[in-house]
Amino acid sequence: MSISDILSEPVGILGAGIAGLINAYVLTQDGFTNVTVVTRDRSVGGIWSRDRVYSGLRINNVHGEYRFSPLEMPPPDDSSESGGHITGMGMCEYMETFYDKFLKGKAKFMFEAEILNVNRGDTKRWQVKIRRIRSAETEDLTFARVILATGGCSNPSIPEALSPEAAEKARFEGVVIHSSQFGSRIDDILALVKQKESNDDKTKGTVLVVGGGKSAMDICAKLANEGRRVVNVFQKADVFLAAKAKLPDIIRKGRLLSVFSPHIVLRTRLERFLHTTALGSWITRNFWNKLEQISFDSFSLPKDSPLRNTSSNFWGIRINDEGRVNPKNYYSLVNAGQIELVAPARALGYADDGKSVRLNNGQEVSAEVAILATGWKSSWTQIFEGSRTLGSTMEELGLGRHPPSTDVIAVANNWDYKTLENPPTMHPENQVQKWVTSIHRGLVPGKNINKRDFAIAGAIFTANNGYTSEVAAHWISSYFQGDPMRFPSSPEEAITEAELRSAWMRKRYPNMCSWVNESYSCTLDFWTWPQAVDELLEDMYLPSMRSGGNFFTWPFRVIDLKEISTLGEERRAIRKRTREY
Ligand SMILES: Cc1cc2nc3c(=O)[nH]c(=O)nc-3n(C[C@H](O)[C@H](O)[C@H](O)COP(=O)(O)OP(=O)(O)OC[C@H]3O[C@@H](n4cnc5c(N)ncnc54)[C@H](O)[C@@H]3O)c2cc1C
Ligand SMILES: *[C@@H]1O[C@H](CO)[C@@H](O)[C@H](O)[C@H]1NC(C)=O
Ligand SMILES: *[C@@H]1O[C@H](CO)[C@@H](O)[C@H](O)[C@H]1NC(C)=O
Ligand SMILES: *[C@@H]1O[C@H](CO)[C@@H](O)[C@H](O)[C@H]1NC(C)=O
Repeated sequence: MSISDILSEPVGILGAGIAGLINAYVLTQDGFTNVTVVTRDRSVGGIWSRDRVYSGLRINNVHGEYRFSPLEMPPPDDSSESGGHITGMGMCEYMETFYDKFLKGKAKFMFEAEILNVNRGDTKRWQVKIRRIRSAETEDLTFARVILATGGCSNPSIPEALSPEAAEKARFEGVVIHSSQFGSRIDDILALVKQKESNDDKTKGTVLVVGGGKSAMDICAKLANEGRRVVNVFQKADVFLAAKAKLPDIIRKGRLLSVFSPHIVLRTRLERFLHTTALGSWITRNFWNKLEQISFDSFSLPKDSPLRNTSSNFWGIRINDEGRVNPKNYYSLVNAGQIELVAPARALGYADDGKSVRLNNGQEVSAEVAILATGWKSSWTQIFEGSRTLGSTMEELGLGRHPPSTDVIAVANNWDYKTLENPPTMHPENQVQKWVTSIHRGLVPGKNINKRDFAIAGAIFTANNGYTSEVAAHWISSYFQGDPMRFPSSPEEAITEAELRSAWMRKRYPNMCSWVNESYSCTLDFWTWPQAVDELLEDMYLPSMRSGGNFFTWPFRVIDLKEISTLGEERRAIRKRTREY
């Protein structure tokens, strides 16, 4: 098929979060003329869309790390106090501006359209069934190519015993919502629970927040800053990074943190030293321990605080970047007694009095509002379930988890990393079931690799979503166009390689059941995102390690989005050269 045929065929991008938007941008810039973006939301942005963000919400990343190369992101007004964290509202405005400037009129956007199912019809084209949310009418869309960008945090996961249905059954009189609804319900909540007069004042009502992750903390902080009584119940809190003063960019925004995290391929001498020698691994482990201590101490957390009872920052990927200590932040508010902790404890269900939530430590916490920051489940299951026969599209594509086809676990056990010795206990699910996924580079299912009609965006779990998603979008566009690329020679090779990566993820992060939430974590390249991005660039035969530097300086060069602003042109030049022969 000629390139111009490919460019004129319809492409469906499912989801209008950051992943959907940057893919729409790259495809339209590359000359795709029939691009449709589908979202159930009323506006663009996904997690950061207008209906989801609330004042007080801040992103986790230090300023500038969450944007695309075509559009600057203005620093927040209070960046010296906040350590440079963009607000959720700022993210929302950025995404809307990006859409207005680069996408409106160039791609077709379908808002308020729920994707019901995705299915490769007998015509070999993709059939996407949608329901218009306003009219409830269904419609079938047809695409030659599809990019699945439905996100890892768009379908709430709520334990049954805590669900609104369970609350109703127990005649719980309060309001029960999932954290994803907080932005749209905040005014109701503030009206229901009034401002307390002192920290001991329990007469104005209580909001109970269940969970120890970032959403829970953000919500607690917002409500405490509004003077509301907040009780936070959790089993284990996320680990975090923080410092008393703002860290220099060469540390926060360079490659330094990435070299201290082992990648499946150790490409530089420095990384090989740090992760495979006794001295190097001692330095590496101490580096992370020190960071953890500095972070805990910067907030003067008491030695017995449950907020210190986290998983380690080396072995986990749930790490919040608090930046600089500031008084409006969750940890400061806990220290000041403005957020009450009940931890470690698990919410079991609703009590008989119709007013309280029951905990596993025997306690009952009475609350007018219960907010369940209990996480997310895969956004894929639902849209593939309605396919021809249950699961067939998932299976046909090779999207789901499965037992490994070769003995990748044995290979994983032979990886010779000193830094990976003495790991924490594996997640029970990892021990019993040896599941793997086989998504090449976290972008295309190995099984489907030769069809070039399906890709996944936004499922690379990384500490720099903007940069990673943009490079990945170029990769996907090249893949669709059949550009020259470094590429597995067969689906079998792609599957074996991807399964090996999956085994790597298990070894590197023993606590993560990545294969359960495929839509969230096809690959885990958290601190190691620069290494992962380099692989994508090299796949496209483009220069990698773009922040430059010499033998001594490269780990300290600040990574700037500008360095990838010319990828489209660079790819075009390569395409042109190879077609001329
Ligand atoms: C409260 C919160 C804070 C976060 N903070 C950070 C942070 O600070 N830093 C960071 O790097 N990451 C953060 N994340 C992770 C976040 O998921 C990613 O940063 C990123 O926003 C994900 O983008 P995405 O485009 O992949 O998915 P999303 O933003 O989730 O977009 C998914 C899109 O798919 C659509 N969609 C899904 N299913 C359907 C369906 N069935 N029908 C129609 N449309 C559908 C949605 O409407 C939406 O348009 C946070 C997540 C949450 C929930
Ligand atoms: C885009 O593709 C759809 C689906 O095949 C088709 O109905 C529509 O006419 C195309 N639009 C343009 C502008 O080519
Ligand atoms: C730490 O958390 C675990 C639950 O994840 C709990 O079992 C343990 O008692 C906690 N330890 C302390 C000291 O709080
Ligand atoms: C993944 O899914 C499982 C089961 O649905 C859930 O218990 C877990 O919290 C999820 N993890 C993440 C990181 O979303």
